[in-house]
Amino acid sequence: MNTPSSPAPLVVAEPRLMRDTILAARRAGRRVGFVPTMGALHAGHASLVERAAVECDDVVVSIFVNPKQFGPREDLARYPRTLPADVALLGASGARWVFVPEAATAYPAGHATSVVVAAPAADFEGAIRPGHFAGVATVVCWLFNVVPADAAYFGAKDWQQTVVVRRMVADLAIPIAIEVCPTVREPDGLAMSSRNAYLSPDERRRAVALHEGLESAARHWQAGDDVALVEEAIRAALRAHDVPVDYARVVDPQSLVPPRPGAAAVALVAGRVGTTRLLDNLLLPPRP
Ligand code: PAF
Repeated sequence: MNTPSSPAPLVVAEPRLMRDTILAARRAGRRVGFVPTMGALHAGHASLVERAAVECDDVVVSIFVNPKQFGPREDLARYPRTLPADVALLGASGARWVFVPEAATAYPAGHATSVVVAAPAADFEGAIRPGHFAGVATVVCWLFNVVPADAAYFGAKDWQQTVVVRRMVADLAIPIAIEVCPTVREPDGLAMSSRNAYLSPDERRRAVALHEGLESAARHWQAGDDVALVEEAIRAALRAHDVPVDYARVVDPQSLVPPRPGAAAVALVAGRVGTTRLLDNLLLPPRP
């Protein structure tokens, strides 16, 4: 395992070299953990790397701002790119390799293949961002081939993404374990996200609405309220902070369809704080 005093990670751009390096490590009996990211790393990413470093001998992190998962009017051009700071954070968190492919290597001329996950990708982010999950699934499938690790670590903050990736891995029999790690939050409860950097001071204060809504939902859930009331509690918190709601729904955590009575659920929320879309979620335990 790499430790916080480890040397700076080795930066690799060439897919074949990356793959050969991972396969050699595994042949040598080392367990390899993989954290796919788009960079602009923060404490949430560091927690994924640290968890991987505890559970694996070597950790590899990819940094690739994947153009295929951004819509034409989304923030691809202004998405924060902070490679030197990212590499420093990764050294301190215990990563051994950083994989930084060029867009032209991930999508060479003539690239014509897309991975489309149907049901769990259709609603929520999938409905609001058409093509987003095809972009995510396509690049994650490619990354899992180039970085054939034992396990991959994803943050629970993007809950629907974890469901889509699990579905793809199961359906395509990709030999990698998917680990989902808890959301890391700011002191006021805001889920850490690279897009929080877009928020003005006033927007940053209002962004706590999502966490407040989920906390309120959890209280209504524990009190035994109907799903409709639990969802309304989330919307009320967003209204109180003048945050337009994209969705506020309580669904089954694995299938993302309405939950069975008494079963565990997940509350999913997305809202727009100024021009920035923020997502969050909270698992709700089974109830009698
Ligand atoms: O969650 C992200 O940062 C991205 O969607 C991922 C999984 C790295 C694919 O580009």
